[in-house]
Amino acid sequence: MSPAPRRSGFSRRRWLLSAAVLALAGFALALWLFLAQGGLTPLRVPVGEPWQGSDDPGQIAHGAYLARIGNCLTCHTSRGGIPYAGSRPFRSEYGVLYSSNLTPDPETGLGEWSLAEFNHSLRHGVSRTGLLYPAFPFAHFSHLTDEDVEALFAFLRQLPPVRQAAPANAMSAPASWRNFSMFGWRMLFHRPSAVIAQVPDDSGPAPSQAWQRGRYLVDGLGHCAMCHSGRGALQSLPASRYMAGEHITGQGWYAPPLDREALAHWQEPELAYYLRNGVSRHGSAYGSMAEVIFTSTQFLTEDDALAMAIYLKTIEPAPSVRHDRRSASRDPASAGIGNGMNVYRQQCADCHGLDGRGRGLDYPPLAGNRLVMSASGVNPIRMVLFGGVAPVTGGNRQPHSMPPYLTWLSDREVAEVVNYIRSAWGNQASAVTIDDVRAQHSLMLH
Ligand code: HEC
Ligand code: HEC
Ligand code: HEC
Repeated sequence: MSPAPRRSGFSRRRWLLSAAVLALAGFALALWLFLAQGGLTPLRVPVGEPWQGSDDPGQIAHGAYLARIGNCLTCHTSRGGIPYAGSRPFRSEYGVLYSSNLTPDPETGLGEWSLAEFNHSLRHGVSRTGLLYPAFPFAHFSHLTDEDVEALFAFLRQLPPVRQAAPANAMSAPASWRNFSMFGWRMLFHRPSAVIAQVPDDSGPAPSQAWQRGRYLVDGLGHCAMCHSGRGALQSLPASRYMAGEHITGQGWYAPPLDREALAHWQEPELAYYLRNGVSRHGSAYGSMAEVIFTSTQFLTEDDALAMAIYLKTIEPAPSVRHDRRSASRDPASAGIGNGMNVYRQQCADCHGLDGRGRGLDYPPLAGNRLVMSASGVNPIRMVLFGGVAPVTGGNRQPHSMPPYLTWLSDREVAEVVNYIRSAWGNQASAVTIDDVRAQHSLMLH
């Protein structure tokens, strides 16, 4: 016998063995991923008799309050459309998705749904429609209590039924193959525990009732992390980027980090006041946050707003936040101011003051201002380009507004004046570019 065939026999056995080991490892990994997204339970939609609704006015009122905090109205109403009848478009790199009709119409809404099915769609993101897309914050809603789910359904069931089917989604494959793509996505990314802060271990003092309530509201119904957490691959929300700040898909605005360092200058009652009124001595809320306050958090009870604030101020900064801050301060806006100071003197100083200290309560200071110095420059760019107005709330009945400079200043002048206000009067933040300004034009409407 020559050694050659023996070697090849040996390597074939080795090859078969490696293939078997690989197949086994692949199978184990798939099984692990399948179990990590919850196993079979989430995929089985419970059937049952249509729910007849509730005749308890207290429960319905409680549901209406919860619907405010969950902001169901905003996502489930099209511009100028009938409240809760759906069809609001959600744009992303995968195309356009439309929200569902939540009114009790039997054909196009939730009229035929059982309470178990409603519960299942909120908790697991699966309904008779199929596996739902994560534009619907079901990972957050998975933390709701049974009592709150029932109250929400009680509220929705007594709305006037509206017959309105959502337009067909316009997404590209493979995202458009709903069950196929979402099954894969859930295996890789659906981890409800990643969107809720873990309760500190037994070693420390037990968390207060207010803290627990705050966490329930912020991480559950309030789904604040949907904008404020950093995104991972394919729109996922990894635990490592919890509340680390992010540019909001398709909207242009940047939601800053929310953690105990980022909010160090806010007292809890100030933060609660901001959530209920949209204004504060640290500046007002604009853009997406103004919308959240206007449609949702201004309706919080004082206790619930305070509970949220208490919780927010205990969040540990995500590692990536520290990194962002360091690079921002290493790159102070020394270049790119160009004509910015003159533009400021001519266009802005009348209202905001030559010294950047603002005027009275109506014209906010830009010196030391959090929005001006936020890690990303997009928010001040948007303010200058499109102007802005804080939300109308109980504590801010007649807001003054900031005028838009879109047609008045060139993109270069906008970049320069933003760089000026990000570096004058002791302010320190990274420089913006003309391309940053240009990129905002296409996102004007949001
Ligand atoms: C950030 C936007 C957003 C918010 C907030 C939101 N939804 Fe939705 N919801 C959606 C979108 C988008 C869909 C459609 C998902 C899909 O087609 O896969 C949806 C789907 C649903 C469905 C499934 C309907 C069906 O026919 O399968 C239910 C039920 C639902 N939402 C209830 C609620 C309730 C109750 C609230 C408030 C507590 C709420 N949603 C808040 C965006 C949102
Ligand atoms: C739709 C996206 C979105 C959602 C949802 C959202 N925010 Fe915001 N938030 C923003 C944006 C954008 C800003 C920055 C704009 C500004 O400062 O005016 C912001 C700013 C803030 C600020 C000011 C922080 C600072 O340092 O300036 C606080 C506090 C805040 N949000 C709390 C919350 C809480 C609490 C929730 C949940 C109830 C929430 N946000 C939900 C988009 C969002
Ligand atoms: C006619 C008066 C006026 C002029 C001129 C003006 N602003 Fe404003 N600006 C305001 C008002 C009023 C607000 C607050 C709006 C609100 O709270 O609803 C504001 C808000 C802002 C904010 C957000 C600050 C915060 O946190 O509340 C920035 C940034 C800003 N202005 C920058 C500028 C720059 C840069 C210019 C010049 C290019 C400028 N403004 C010109 C009146 C003005």
